[in-house]
Amino acid sequence: MTMLCDPAYVVPPPPPAGPVGTLTWLRATVSRFSAGADHARRRALILERLAAIEPAWLSERARETGDHVVALAEALGASDAAAAAAAVAEIAPHYNPAPGGDRPGKPAEPPAAGVLADPQGTAADAQGTSADPQGMAADAHGMAADAHGTAADATAAGPPAAGAPDAAVAALLTLLPPAEPERVAQDIAILVQACAATAALIANGGALDPPPVPATRRIAPDGSVVTVDLAPHPFGAGPRACPGAEHALALAQGVLESR
Ligand code: HEM
Repeated sequence: MTMLCDPAYVVPPPPPAGPVGTLTWLRATVSRFSAGADHARRRALILERLAAIEPAWLSERARETGDHVVALAEALGASDAAAAAAAVAEIAPHYNPAPGGDRPGKPAEPPAAGVLADPQGTAADAQGTSADPQGMAADAHGMAADAHGTAADATAAGPPAAGAPDAAVAALLTLLPPAEPERVAQDIAILVQACAATAALIANGGALDPPPVPATRRIAPDGSVVTVDLAPHPFGAGPRACPGAEHALALAQGVLESR
């Protein structure tokens, strides 16, 4: 808790951004991995977006569709919510690949605050891409043309690094409502943050104990990487606490009622 509220403990920075529409661009542009004024501005975009989404409506759509990401993609105005959900599922495992990174499963050892073996916090962060055996990156990239100077347009400027997660990010730029790239990145962040964490809550039968996201990471002032046990605060705490807690609970309730 103290560490989550202490600005001296920072989120491990993502690797440098690639072109708009790539996984590295997404990770470098979302609130989740940003710091300082960038974090404040990007988080404000997310809060604005979530404020316009009524949890009761989400719950109802989750009950009707049986899928929390489809319901959220609909709420965000995706042109094809099922395609958006499929793209999100492709990105989610690569979004925060480090130990203790926004994913269900066992917390990194030890589960309480402790120092990990990777003092720079970069080894896992650097693995954010993968091969693209299907050649999907080029396909999704080719769909990105947009006449209005939007994020989708930006992906047409040059081919993103090949990889299925890159293709999925590029596809989401075409599926979500057109806006400047930084804004669309926060829409993608909402979907990706919601994906595995809410699935874990659903798998828990709606219970927050054990916490759906077991742990998160911070870099301490001495440069060591610490793992923060989230059991006492399943939605985090402080200026980076989950802004989607109410939405998560509504989505999980809807999906559970659909079964
Ligand atoms: C059971 C489901 C969920 C859990 C347990 C959960 C948990 C968390 C936690 C612990 C953090 C903070 C991580 C840290 O401090 O390092 C976080 C951040 C975040 N969550 Fe959730 N989350 C859930 C669902 C959702 C949903 C449904 C949304 C969107 C509707 C969402 C959006 C976000 C965003 C955007 C952030 C980053 C906030 C920032 O950068 O300031 N989460 N989540």
